[in-house]
Amino acid sequence: MKNQLKTSINRRSFVKNGLTAASAATVGAGLLAHTSTVLAHDGPEERSGRLDRGDAAILRFLAAAEILETDLWQQYNELGGIPDSEVPGGSGNPTYTAALAVLDADMAQYIHDNTEDELTHEVFINAYLDSKGADTVNLDQFRTLPSSKATGAQQIGRLTNLMQLTVDTSWWTRYRSGDKNPDFGDSFDQAVPSLNKGQHPAIPRDDDDLTPNDHIQAIANTAGFHFGTIEQGGTSLYPQLAQRVTHPEVLRIVLSIGPTEAMHFQTWQDKAGNAPALTDPKDSSLIFPDLNSPPLGGEEFQTNLIMPEPTIFLSRKLPTCSIVRPTATKGAAMGVLKFLTEMGLFIGQSPAFFELLRDLAEDADEAKR
Ligand SMILES: [Fe+2]
Ligand SMILES: [Fe+2]
Repeated sequence: MKNQLKTSINRRSFVKNGLTAASAATVGAGLLAHTSTVLAHDGPEERSGRLDRGDAAILRFLAAAEILETDLWQQYNELGGIPDSEVPGGSGNPTYTAALAVLDADMAQYIHDNTEDELTHEVFINAYLDSKGADTVNLDQFRTLPSSKATGAQQIGRLTNLMQLTVDTSWWTRYRSGDKNPDFGDSFDQAVPSLNKGQHPAIPRDDDDLTPNDHIQAIANTAGFHFGTIEQGGTSLYPQLAQRVTHPEVLRIVLSIGPTEAMHFQTWQDKAGNAPALTDPKDSSLIFPDLNSPPLGGEEFQTNLIMPEPTIFLSRKLPTCSIVRPTATKGAAMGVLKFLTEMGLFIGQSPAFFELLRDLAEDADEAKR
């Protein structure tokens, strides 16, 4: 344990010191907007002394998470949302948009608004860091993954991959359970077990994916569940990290952004329940069950139960409570990184990308009040 910690600290100081060394340019370049020799000599407070070091680390991890979220939502908006001046890029794909609309007629608007929200989270957090003289996060050098070739998508480099996803749909039963909580070590059944195995596109990869109907519907259904999977992650991440924030203003930022992730999640949970039952004609292993019929249905699956079921919290001796879950703070940033990586979101990314994200996550997880 002790050795592990030491290795990790040594590696991190290498990355940070590397920011000033030309030989480490491939590791550090582009991540932090201000490359500064001051970074290697951080005291208890960052640089200008106006931002606690742990708070800066938490905000930087959140900025990175928001940059990644924006990148994935941008891809959804180009094909299935509403490209406009607020969320520019792409020209829409009518077939994919129509398949998403089966889940709700307003899906395109919600996708647009979620994308815009993430973009503002990213820009705000970085601007706040900058206003305090702290280093900001820039992942531009890692925009190397391919775009969808389907009509409507921009052909640009991406940070995230939406075409080979393994989607954990256990949040569906986690928020419906009245006697289990992941913070107590409990695990939860999948709503769509086949989405959590193999790799599935959540956007059409090319125009061949637009037919037959049930195939593009399976892709839209995958997106519908992925939206909930992503946003429940954000819903937990903010309260998890808030517990280790020091300055009241930074706490205010985290407490003001976090609940918007819960608003997103609540919306997507409602829409995912409308995903039509079907088997993908181009991948017979991908089956969307009827969530309201046996062996599903009941309290754990019933699609209109979209408010969090009260469950155990802190101690089994206390009464059950309607809560976000999980909210345990230990290792939260690394947990999110693992969750996003296992989802397949970063398939094709370089070792340097993973090293930098690990570095940001470890720094955030070391922050203390
Ligand atoms: Fe966000
Ligand atoms: Fe979000």
